[in-house]
Order: sequence, then structure tokens, then C-alpha cells
Amino acid sequence: MITLGVDLGSRTTKAVLRSDGEILARRILMTGWAPAGAAMSARAAVVADAGLAPDDVEATVATGYGRVTVPFPAKTVTEITCHAAGAASVLPRVRTVIDVGGQDSKVIRIDRFGLVSDFAMNDRCAAGTGRFLEFMAQSLEVEIGAFALLGAKGREPADLSSICTVFAESEVLSLVAEGAEVSDIVAGIHRAISRRIVTLAQGVGLVPPVAMTGGGALNPGLRHHLAQLLGTEILIPPHPQTMGAEGAAIIAGRE
Ligand SMILES: Nc1ncnc2c1ncn2[C@@H]1O[C@H](COP(=O)(O)OP(=O)(O)OP(=O)(O)O)[C@@H](O)[C@H]1O
Ligand SMILES: [Mg+2]
Repeated sequence: MITLGVDLGSRTTKAVLRSDGEILARRILMTGWAPAGAAMSARAAVVADAGLAPDDVEATVATGYGRVTVPFPAKTVTEITCHAAGAASVLPRVRTVIDVGGQDSKVIRIDRFGLVSDFAMNDRCAAGTGRFLEFMAQSLEVEIGAFALLGAKGREPADLSSICTVFAESEVLSLVAEGAEVSDIVAGIHRAISRRIVTLAQGVGLVPPVAMTGGGALNPGLRHHLAQLLGTEILIPPHPQTMGAEGAAIIAGRE
């Protein structure tokens, strides 16, 4: 059975095409200001990559904050359920999934069947999310990949008193003016975000093994500080950013 999972996130739109347990194609596009268009493009891209036509898709599940805007027939499922299903399928022993996306961070506890038993979510503002890191990278004029690497390198992470995007920017610029090492500032930013995610994790109770999904899992600085603060190893699936879409494609096959 050929199934499609589409995850319309605040920053990126992901599509995963699956057939009988095998992944045929996966794509990541920027969501931009036209989520419906991004969903159409992502579907067209994976279907073409697999040498198929959209009509060959037998079931579709849409997830992510923009899931209701998907302009083709699809069942909608929450991102929590989809990230859990994706992570549980790739890393079957995992009991806690930390998804750091562009707009929110989530800590999801899953049982041995891959079903959600509890979760906590931070979605009130950019603080504690991937978008905050992108914003800080921009204000230091460092590309996000290089910024994320620097985040793991600082030897003495700077102490930030606020991770409110507006206050943190001026605090960071003051640290630069005072001559602080950029790697220490960037490490401090990653550490501050990690602390926020740890607080979220404490709310649901962290049960190992722990895995990380979402674009935040591509960030070595975040992985380093989170693992250190949580005092546990963090497993990263091979394609962390498309885990929600992969979970959606799996769920589409069950319906
Ligand atoms: N190469 C990279 N290195 C480091 N971080 C990255 C990289 N690529 C993406 N990111 C991070 O991933 C974030 C986007 O993650 P993702 O695509 O999972 O978000 P989303 O699903 O659109 O958002 P949400 O789930 O909150 O709606 C970016 O904000 C950025 O912080
Ligand atoms: Mg997401």
C-alpha cells in the first residue's frame, strides 16, 4: 500500500512516501507564507522522485500546525502522535521523544507500543524553539549550520539572563561589545534553550532511551547541551526532521 505523510510545519513542509514498510522518497521544503502551495509542491516532489503519479497514493495523513490547509484529501493527525509513531518505528525501544521544531518544542512520552502516554509543549513564544536559534544566528551574522556547530564548541558558555527573543538579542550584542568569545556566547544561547527544554521534560518525566526529532536534532550544540543537562545519551534517527511526516505515512497505512 502506497501512503503519504505530509507535515506542514511553521518553518518547513515535509513529505514522506512509503510503501509496505519501505520509504520511497522524502522531501523538505520551506513552508513560507503559502502552506497549501508548499504541501502541493512537497507531494508532487516525492511522487515524482518515486516515479509515480499523485493518484497512485492510496492514503494520506497530514500533520503539523498547517495540516488543515492541505489542499488534497487527507486525514489529519496531531504532530505529537506522528512524531511518536515515526520515532517508535525507527528506534523501537525509545520511550521519550524530544521534538524541537521552528515554532514549538515538545517532549513526548511513549509506551512500548509507540503510543503517546503523556506530553508537554512550549508554543507560547519563540523562546525555546528553533526559530529563536535562527534569529540569534542571524543577529550574529552566522549561518545556522555554523552557528549550531559553534554551540557545541564554547568552553565557558555565557550566562544569558533572558531567552526572550527581544531581550536576548540586546544581551548578546552587549556581550559581543564586551569582547566575549563568540563560541562562548553561542554555547550560552544553546545552553539557555536546552534548559528550557529540560524544564519541559521534567514536567512529563524523562524515561530513557531518549530520541530527538525535528530540525533541532540537526543542531550539534543543542544535542550536546541537552544530553549534558539531562545526563543521558540522546539518540538521533537518520532523518530526524522528517520523523513527523514519516509517522504520518505510517499512520495512513493503518487506517
Ligand atoms: N542544518 C541545520 N543545523 C541546525 N539547525 C537546523 C538546521 N536545519 C534546520 N535547523 C533547525 O530546525 C528548525 C526547523 O525545524 P523543523 O523543520 O522541524 O520545524 P517545523 O516542523 O517547521 O516547526 P514546528 O514543528 O514548530 O511547526 C529551524 O528553526 C532550525 O533551528
Ligand atoms: Mg514540526
